[in-house]
Amino acid sequence: MRHFLDIHNVEPGVLRGILDQAKAMKDSRAGRPKGVEDDVQALAGRMVALLFEKPSTRTRVSFDVGVRQLGGKTLILSGNEIQLGHGETIADTARVLSRYVDLVMIRTFAEESLLELASHATVPVINGLTNRTHPCQVMADVMTFEEHRGPISGKKVVWVGDGNNVCASFLHAAGQFGFEMVVTGPEDLHPEAEFVDLARASGASVELDSDPVKAVSGADLVVADTWVSMHDSPAIKERRWTQLEPYQVNAELMAHAKSDALFMHCLPAHRGEEATDEVMDGPNSVIFDEAENRLHVQKAIMRWCLEL
Ligand code: CP
Ligand code: NVA
Repeated sequence: MRHFLDIHNVEPGVLRGILDQAKAMKDSRAGRPKGVEDDVQALAGRMVALLFEKPSTRTRVSFDVGVRQLGGKTLILSGNEIQLGHGETIADTARVLSRYVDLVMIRTFAEESLLELASHATVPVINGLTNRTHPCQVMADVMTFEEHRGPISGKKVVWVGDGNNVCASFLHAAGQFGFEMVVTGPEDLHPEAEFVDLARASGASVELDSDPVKAVSGADLVVADTWVSMHDSPAIKERRWTQLEPYQVNAELMAHAKSDALFMHCLPAHRGEEATDEVMDGPNSVIFDEAENRLHVQKAIMRWCLEL
C-alpha cells in the first residue's frame, strides 16, 4: 500500500519523481482556467475522501480542485459530522471508507490517528497535517524553492519561531533532499529531538540556535509559521507572544539573510506577529506560490499513491 504519511519514509528518488511530475503537470496547465480538466485524466472513475478534524482552506481546496482536474470525484467529510466524531473508532472508519473510496486524505490531531487509519485502510492514506507533521506542505515548499532558485540540496534553510509540525516536516525533508537546516527560537520551542536526530542521521546538518540574527545569517530561505498552532491551547497565546516576539521575521531580520533569500510561510498567517506585511508582501516572498504548488504536488502525490 502506497501511503503518503511523512517525507522521511518515502524514498528520495520517489520524492524527486513526485516533484518532477508536479512541475510537468503545472507547466502543462499554464494559462488554462482552473476548472478545465487535465489532459491526463489519471483519477477518472476514482473517488477520494477528504477528512478534516481541523479547519483548512488550502488543503481542502487544493485537494478538491486537484482531484477534479485529474477527472476524479471528492467527498469532503468533517470529523464532527461523521460517526468518527461521535465514538466510532478510527479503525472501523478506515475499514468502512475503504469500501467506498479509492483514497483517503486526513487532517487530524494525534499522529496515532493517522497511523491507525493507515494501518486499517485498504486504500492509500495521505497525511494532510497532524499535530506533528505536515508533509504535503513541505513538498510544495521544496518545489517552490527549486522553481525560484534551482536545487535545494546544500542550501541553508532557516526556520524561525515555534519548532512545530511544519518545521518537523522540513527536518524530514532536509534529510531526504540534502539541505542544511537551522532552527531558531526559544529553547523550549525547539523541535522534538526525534526529528533533529533523524535529519542528522540522514546526513543533513541541523543546528538549533536561540539567536535569530546569527541563525538567519547567510540563509537561502527563511521560513516562518504561526506562533500558536491549531492543536495548541489558546491559553498559551500570551506566553507565546512574549517568547516569540524577538523572533518576528521583519525587514531587519531578513537583512541578515542572503540578499536573494526567499521568504516562506505555509499560511494562514497572523500578519504583524510572526512576520510583517513588508516581508510577506516583499519581493522575495513566495507565499502564494507555495499555496499554488500544494495543488500541483498533491496531484502528483495522489498519482503515486494510486500508481497512476
Ligand atoms: N497551509 C495549510 O495547510 O493551510 P490550511 O490550514 O488552510 O489547509
Ligand atoms: N502549524 C500550523 C500549520 C497550519 C497549516 C498549525 O498546525 O496550525
